[in-house]
Parts: sequence; structure tokens; C-alpha cells
Amino acid sequence: MTSRIVGTGHCVPETVITNDDLSKIVDTNDEWISSRTGIKSRRIVKEENTSYMAYMAAKQALDNANILPEDIDLIIVATSTPDTIFPNTACCVQGLLNNKKAVCFDLNAACSGFIYALNVAHSHIVAKMAKKALVIGSECMSKVINWKDRGTCVLFGDGAGAVVIEESKEGFIHTVVGSDGSKGEAIICDGHSNSYFEGEKEKKHPFTEMNGQEVFRFAVKKVPESIGQLLEKSNTLIEEIDWYILHQANERIISSVSKRLGVPMEKFPINLEQYGNTSAASVPILLDEMNRNGMLKKGDKIVISGFGAGLTWGTSLLIW
Ligand code: ACO
Repeated sequence: MTSRIVGTGHCVPETVITNDDLSKIVDTNDEWISSRTGIKSRRIVKEENTSYMAYMAAKQALDNANILPEDIDLIIVATSTPDTIFPNTACCVQGLLNNKKAVCFDLNAACSGFIYALNVAHSHIVAKMAKKALVIGSECMSKVINWKDRGTCVLFGDGAGAVVIEESKEGFIHTVVGSDGSKGEAIICDGHSNSYFEGEKEKKHPFTEMNGQEVFRFAVKKVPESIGQLLEKSNTLIEEIDWYILHQANERIISSVSKRLGVPMEKFPINLEQYGNTSAASVPILLDEMNRNGMLKKGDKIVISGFGAGLTWGTSLLIW
């Protein structure tokens, strides 16, 4: 017995910010951003927030699965940019869905968060602790970015993606997750207030700071490594995989992974040119777009992979 994805959804903010728009805020240009990252535009919240986008994505996923909100008994939201420390985002989604029976919590593993959350929800289902789960990645990265720092502000965007999973004979086959806390400084954001007793301590990293090249090296090594482990543990050949749906951080990372694995880029769908890096939301947004435009066929073998701050990584193999 395992679990499988039975519905998908996504929500992105209405406001589109192009590379040209950013060149009016910081010293950058479309050529630099496009050639180094593949990103052309991103969606940025104005009226929307993390829990609202999570709710909208969840509603779509439930409709797609033909499941009523009250039938969900577990909601996990992967986010590092919640609207409030408490209540958690998953509880906010539960309230908006008018669901009374779900266990609700958030999970923060940055850009790997969605894969971590799926793995936890899957484990709950296999352990018979839940029957139907909503797993959501939702982020307002625009709120933790220094909009005066051209090195980071051009990379990120806001959005949410959601899936519904339930018990099934076929679906998730295997997952590899890992963390390396010794590399925490590679991507870091403090985001906390001081207590009265601490006095006025200056925040070291009030906004997202990143050692871009270290993150690049980590991603192009760790992602192929974890895919290799996954295939070995599940006795699957690399040619059997129909799609590699990777976290949409940067087109150069994705093409390096494709080269290292010796797999053509056609098997690595990309939508980061429209949305930028939406952290925990990027994999489920892409999954939903592929589901809605008919790219995913029943029986397809799919690898999904996230990697990011922590450092963290997670890669799953599933049958659609
Ligand atoms: N526009 C114009 N010039 C810029 C910009 C910009 N937006 N940003 C930096 N530069 C300049 C720098 O100031 C530097 O100028 P200098 O040579 O005069 O000092 C020059 O461009 C090169 O800067 P680098 O930081 O060395 O550029 P690099 O080639 O490493 O590219 C990038 C930066 C795109 C971030 C790259 O390191 C990368 O892809 N890293 C992966 C990290 C990533 O994708 N992180 C996403 C978040 S984490 C995650 O999701 C896993």
C-alpha cells in the first residue's frame, strides 16, 4: 500500500513584474537576468498573501480530485514565509475551507519543503494516521527579499501549488531526503524580532542573503546524486523516467543536472521564465500546469526534486 496524487491546483498573484520593471529599481537588465537564470518575469503579491494563495490552490486541487473539503483529515503547508507565526498557515487554510477534522501544521524546509511535506503526508497515510491529505507549498518570497540587492531580488517570485493525496495501490515508490546544517549560511534570512530582554540587537541577515555560487555547486551535485540513490533503491532504470520535475530555481542548474544524468532537456519541464523561484511552491505549480495541459499520462514515472536552504534536499519517484 502507498499513496498517490489524485488532484492538483495552483494560484499565483495577479501582478507581473518583468526584468525590465526590475531594471527601474536596481542596476540590472533583462540580458543579465535571462542569460544567468532563465527568468523573464515573476508574480508578486499586492493584495494576496501566503494563506490566501494556499487556500486558492487547495480549492483547485480538491475540485480536480473531486473530493470535498470536509473529507480531508491532514493539511500540511510547506512555507518559510507564513503570514503569521501562529496560527500556522495550514490552520488558516482549514478555516477558509470550513474543514473541521484535519490535523494542520506548517513545515519549513525552504525550497525542499514541498517534497518534505509530501513525504510526511505519505507516511501518515501509510501508517493509517490519515486517509486524505492536502499538501501545499505557498510562499511570499517578495516579503523576505531586499529589493535593493540586485544579486537576490531578481531571482524570486510568489505563488502556491497544492496536491491532494490518498491511499492507493500505486503511486509514491520511494523518497530520498537529506539535510546539511553545517552549510546554513549559504542561504539565510533572520526574520525574527528581538525580545525586550535582549535589547536592540541588530539583525545580521534581515533579508535573504545567498552565496550564489555555493548554492549552484550544491544543487548540481546533490540533485543528480539523490536521483541516483532513488533509482538504485527502487530498481528503476534512468530511461524509465518520463519526467524530471525539479525545483525551478535556475535554468542553468536544471540544464547542468540534465547533462550530468545524460538525460535530454525535453524531460525537464520548465516554467521559471514566468514565475522565477517560488521556493516550496515551484514543484506543485509546475505539476499542476502539466496536469492541466495534459502532459501527464496515467502510468508515467515521474521524479520530483527540491533543494535549497538548510541546506536541504528531497527527491521522490512516483507513478502518475
Ligand atoms: N544584474 C546585473 N549584474 C548583477 C546582478 C544583476 N541582477 N547580480 C549580480 N550582478 C553582478 C555582480 O555584482 C558581479 O559583478 P562584478 O563581477 O562586477 O563583481 C557579477 O554580476 C557576477 O556576479 P556573481 O554573483 O558572481 O554571478 P554568478 O555568475 O554567480 O550568477 C547567480 C549569480 C545567478 C545567483 C548564480 O550564482 C546562481 O545561479 N546560483 C544558484 C543559486 C540560486 O539559484 N539560488 C536560488 C535560491 S536558493 C534555491 O532555490 C536553491
